[in-house]
Amino acid sequence: MARLEGKIALVTGGGSGIGRACAKRMASEGAVVTIADINDEGANAVVAEIAAAGGQAYAVHCDITNEQSIREAVEGAAARSGRLDIVHNNAAFVTPEVFAQDIDILTLSTENWDAVMQGTLRGTMLGCRYAVIEMLKNGGGSIINTSSMYGMSAFNRQVSYGVSKGAINTLTQYVATRFGRKGIRCNAVAPSMIDTPLLRSVIPQELLDANLEATLTPFLGTVDDVAASVAFLASDDARYLTGQILRVDGGTTAHLPTYADARRFFGDD
Ligand SMILES: NC(=O)c1ccc[n+]([C@@H]2O[C@H](COP(=O)([O-])OP(=O)(O)OC[C@H]3O[C@@H](n4cnc5c(N)ncnc54)[C@H](O)[C@@H]3O)[C@@H](O)[C@H]2O)c1
Repeated sequence: MARLEGKIALVTGGGSGIGRACAKRMASEGAVVTIADINDEGANAVVAEIAAAGGQAYAVHCDITNEQSIREAVEGAAARSGRLDIVHNNAAFVTPEVFAQDIDILTLSTENWDAVMQGTLRGTMLGCRYAVIEMLKNGGGSIINTSSMYGMSAFNRQVSYGVSKGAINTLTQYVATRFGRKGIRCNAVAPSMIDTPLLRSVIPQELLDANLEATLTPFLGTVDDVAASVAFLASDDARYLTGQILRVDGGTTAHLPTYADARRFFGDD
């Protein structure tokens, strides 16, 4: 039997990139997936891809910066299927304009800081809130939040983004702690740079190359690598895992900062 057979799932930001891959992977493992995205066209396209592959999915318009919108998306998914087992809070508030000026605390605009906290952090908290409300009705479930390596270690830029992701890590632990005895697990995935439309719009090729230098694997991960981890965390295979931040980063954040330079120094492959 497929690992997620009979499970009812919802993925925010499932219309593109990492969320799209996660929705497709969970559907391929048997879950009925609601794709909650601000981009209706993207969400509908993923629903069609899942249906073409023999899976079952629905699209719902959802803006994670709006509490009512998240609430309706989560409640709607649960009402349609009578339960909700998996919620992947994957969407973040990232635009090329905000990302470009999200440099440091001296230069960033206070309004953009608020917008990132409201979109990414508050939106993820609200996704957890309405997921928990539904999961309590059916004795538990699995919540997965999308963090980032910028939430694990500091970078030269993107202070608002990184702080919002660091706070999502702590939020994940709080949700896991409060609701674990009710059968609800809450974990996060913290990917390094993953080739997606979002990444291409904000990260220059030189930085992608530098990131490859810092991975312990000889390749950069893909959306499917993140999706494999999310599907695992969603499944009962991960029933003893909660409150964890899983670094899906090819070991990027596992080593000393001098790793790439030391490889050159020692002449390592
Ligand atoms: N790509 C990377 O390298 C990388 C690395 C670490 C973490 N992440 C995180 O992964 C997640 C997905 O990023 P991606 O690279 O797949 O981006 P993406 O742009 O390819 O996909 C993001 C999706 O979220 C949707 N979205 C945007 N704002 C929304 C909102 N307010 N409400 C609902 N949906 C909204 C978009 O329409 C889009 O379909 C984000 O949380 C991002 O921070 C990405």
